[in-house]
Amino acid sequence: MQSLIWVPEEEFIDQKKWIEKEVGDVGMKSIEDLCKQASKVRENSYSPYSKYKVGVTVLCESGKKYSGCNAEVASYSESDHAEEATITKAVTEGETIKSRKFLKVVAVSHTSDSAPCGRCRQIILEHCDNCLVITADENGKIRRITSVKALLPYSFGPGDLGID
Ligand code: THU
Ligand code: ZN
Repeated sequence: MQSLIWVPEEEFIDQKKWIEKEVGDVGMKSIEDLCKQASKVRENSYSPYSKYKVGVTVLCESGKKYSGCNAEVASYSESDHAEEATITKAVTEGETIKSRKFLKVVAVSHTSDSAPCGRCRQIILEHCDNCLVITADENGKIRRITSVKALLPYSFGPGDLGID
């Protein structure tokens, strides 16, 4: 029984090391710039129902950046989340042509100290083996630096369907 119980303690320790190394590679200045850009695009949010604005800027392996915001619909469930909208934009611009794994950093700006929802975490994981996820306030000030694997441990992804 005991041996069947799984909690992601070791994965979290590995993630801490991975995040530290990745932050060193990307650089704090770039991460800060991404957060500022996310807070800028947040201003374009169309969110008359929730009044909750979200802005996202992603850095791709190609070096290109894309930004997006949430866009709501009166019938609610059709609303676009900022993360999904931004990733779809990157796909539209051809980021998956070389590889589906194009995401390096996802920076999210909003008012609460929270991270992308479950659906957005899954969408992020579709386009990387792992990537940095940075949360920032509405002014672009960094709140937390984490990774999609830390946010979605023991996950299901393309590899489970035989897709590299
Ligand atoms: N929202 C996002 O854009 N991303 C998330 O992952 C969490 C929620 C948006 C959707 C909706 O427009 C508003 O925030 C309130 O839920
Ligand atoms: Zn979401």
